[in-house]
Amino acid sequence: MDNIINLRKRMKRKLDPMRYEHTLSVSFTCMALAMRYGYDLEKAELAGLLHDCAKHFTDEELILRCEKHGVLLDPADRMAPAVIHAKYGAWLAAHKYQIDDEEILEAIRCHTTGKPDMGMLDKILYIADFIEPRRNKAENLPQMRALAFEDLDRTMYEILKGTLGYLKKKNSFINPMTEQAYAWYEARMAERTAENEQEDPKGQELAAGILETTETGSPRAGYGKGEYRYGTGQRDGKAGYQRPAREKRRGRSGH
Ligand SMILES: [Fe+2]
Ligand SMILES: [Fe+2]
Repeated sequence: MDNIINLRKRMKRKLDPMRYEHTLSVSFTCMALAMRYGYDLEKAELAGLLHDCAKHFTDEELILRCEKHGVLLDPADRMAPAVIHAKYGAWLAAHKYQIDDEEILEAIRCHTTGKPDMGMLDKILYIADFIEPRRNKAENLPQMRALAFEDLDRTMYEILKGTLGYLKKKNSFINPMTEQAYAWYEARMAERTAENEQEDPKGQELAAGILETTETGSPRAGYGKGEYRYGTGQRDGKAGYQRPAREKRRGRSGH
């Protein structure tokens, strides 16, 4: 707890007031999701607290600092450097804030782009960053906030789908990692649908009917440069759940 309070003070000194409020809000939302999914509360809190710890640097500073400290950047990162605060943030969390837990560092590292097959904390942080209570611009926030506590993978799918849709509409540069993440979660949803159809064809027909009637679309709340993900999503009428037996078969052990 001392560590958390100390880190909170340090974040308050580094970040502007709005960013700090966002940080606290993400941190508490991470903990709420961790409670729901049985994940380590302190790790979730730390990931939320530090996820934007490099957000106050300019794009140029971020690139220079990554080069100086050997943080590898893809060519795509340099095309839209605002996402680099995630990679450099993970470096800072490790070297300045003494975080040595690789799950926390990885969650910070991928919190802007997402990635295929994200771990539990990766998903918790990515989603908490989208739904935290201070966000207010996205029309689909109520749906995403409810879905987040029902089905992490489907929430990832919906947020990524909305993000790509928004970026394409605006002709903005799309980091290939976001496209890869979306492709992975799209395939995951299709796989789950196929499995559920095999097991419960009537239930799937019912769920499909509900989905058809609840489609919505909306932009995501932003907090300045780099926070470019926008959501267009559907409320999941069936509230799909992750079956422990299936997770075991896939070799996922709670991440
Ligand atoms: Fe961020
Ligand atoms: Fe954030």
